Amino acid sequence: MSHGRFDNPVVAAMAGLKDFFSKQELEDRLSENDRFEGKTCLVTGANSGLGFALAVEIARRGGKVIMACRRQIPEAGENAKKLSGSGNIEMKFLDLSKIGSIHEFCDGLKKDGIRLDVTILNAGVALPKARKTESGLEEMFLVNYLSNVMLTNLLITSGVIDISTNQKSFRPRVIFISSDSHQGSSLIDYEEFGKYYDYGTSKGISNYSYFKLILNTYATELSRRVNNNGHFAGINVICPGPVHSNIVKEAPLLLRITLKSIFSIIFKSPGKAAMPVVYMAISPDYTGKTNEYLHMFRHKKMDSKVYIPEEGTKLWDRSVELWKNVDPLAQTI
Ligand SMILES: NC(=O)c1ccc[n+]([C@@H]2O[C@H](COP(=O)([O-])OP(=O)(O)OC[C@H]3O[C@@H](n4cnc5c(N)ncnc54)[C@H](OP(=O)(O)O)[C@@H]3O)[C@@H](O)[C@H]2O)c1
Repeated sequence: MSHGRFDNPVVAAMAGLKDFFSKQELEDRLSENDRFEGKTCLVTGANSGLGFALAVEIARRGGKVIMACRRQIPEAGENAKKLSGSGNIEMKFLDLSKIGSIHEFCDGLKKDGIRLDVTILNAGVALPKARKTESGLEEMFLVNYLSNVMLTNLLITSGVIDISTNQKSFRPRVIFISSDSHQGSSLIDYEEFGKYYDYGTSKGISNYSYFKLILNTYATELSRRVNNNGHFAGINVICPGPVHSNIVKEAPLLLRITLKSIFSIIFKSPGKAAMPVVYMAISPDYTGKTNEYLHMFRHKKMDSKVYIPEEGTKLWDRSVELWKNVDPLAQTI
């Protein structure tokens, strides 16, 4: 049976206290000169929390931003335009719990001739109990993990993320928003991988960090697969640290009030939490770098299990198999 690092949401939130006081040795590396002019950047889950702050900051720094969201279209985009002072923001519908929506979204970008320089896979949920999606897959597993496999493969195979190294000074960067709570999660359990089962709040919290370990293992394998035969894309992972966002919006009322109180005291504003992500997305420090991990502004290693090549291969094969079982249009690199 798999397990994540935490199974108590209050203990998990209090772990943010340590992050609050941790030294941010790379913080000074991001400057106002790090700008996105000429770059097209996708942010998923961009209507709220960290994703919204990223959209605003990237637009403020001169980038074209595609906000991929399932709600608050066009309000979130209008608000981001006001806050960034940039009109270079577009909103696109994307519901990551619906496989058809993922295809429509990717097809739309291809049809519009979009080439992504920066892709930030930010959307995520924390669910207090299992929810079955129309594909039969569990929602948190699909949104936090498998949809990112689908998106990255479809964007690369369609050329929206162009990994060929012809005549480009800026190589595409793909950033997975993860959580340092993945550290200490169990090895991937292939008996239960992708299977629907009921869970409650404790197992939901445990799954949240465990699915981030799976996501990081996938990012590492994607980096291995993309970066060969003369192809290159920077495939990196970051934990933004504790963010005062809407991530606990589905928690039961009393728990939500408790967690929101902790958030308001020790968690960072989304605007502040976005800064290390912006750094990873545009800084020359990440030119030619792949399979790197940042925990806020600290360079770190992910859990050692993430780097085991056999785990990466097995995860890739099992993820593709699962995807093909639920989607006749699955298409992998
Ligand atoms: N908050 C933290 O302390 C913390 C710490 C470490 C890592 N993270 C990670 O940071 C990322 C952003 O989370 P946040 O803290 O900013 O929380 P948030 O405010 O709840 O934002 C999550 C975003 O994901 C979107 N999303 C959820 N389900 C979706 C779906 N089916 N299709 C499309 N979009 C969907 C949400 O859209 P809706 O508004 O429509 O629900 C929202 O835009 C997540 O990956 C999270 O795991 C957060």
